[in-house]
Amino acid sequence: MQQTMEKTQAMIDHLAAVNRILEKNGYQESRLIPILQEVQDVYKYLSKEMISYVATSIGVPPSRVYGVATFYAHFSMQPKGKYIIRLCDGTACHVKKSHGILNALYAHLDLSADKRTTDDLLFTIETVSCLGACGLAPVMVVGDEVHGQVTPEQAVAIVDQLRAAEKQA
Ligand code: FES
Repeated sequence: MQQTMEKTQAMIDHLAAVNRILEKNGYQESRLIPILQEVQDVYKYLSKEMISYVATSIGVPPSRVYGVATFYAHFSMQPKGKYIIRLCDGTACHVKKSHGILNALYAHLDLSADKRTTDDLLFTIETVSCLGACGLAPVMVVGDEVHGQVTPEQAVAIVDQLRAAEKQA
């Protein structure tokens, strides 16, 4: 019961935030990309329901909003974890065995190339082609924190520290 009430309250808060975003952007179709960007910042992803809500609010067919959301790789239709782990697999990092880090994280978090977010929505693993810090290869970024010359063991330890911190919060 308590959980249901908390979920409902969270939904109301999110919707209020989305309404503020729509209002700030004047409910303008021309502002669709910034609107979707800000909505994704609130929700962490764009659900079908949210796409329909935005479409109805600005008076365009949902297919139009869906088309924009799927065109840009930046938008996600899947929920993302609280911590986005971006692992570089560019040339410099690949040569320094970034795939070993990726495999260690996949195994530790029970994830794969097809399932990139943990069930508890704490972690999402993304691979990127270069993080612009090749001198630190292999590089992993968690949130805003850059970790250079990471080993698979260190990557797993970083994840464990974050999980432990979450449990204490
Ligand atoms: S190739 Fe990994 S940071 Fe550039």
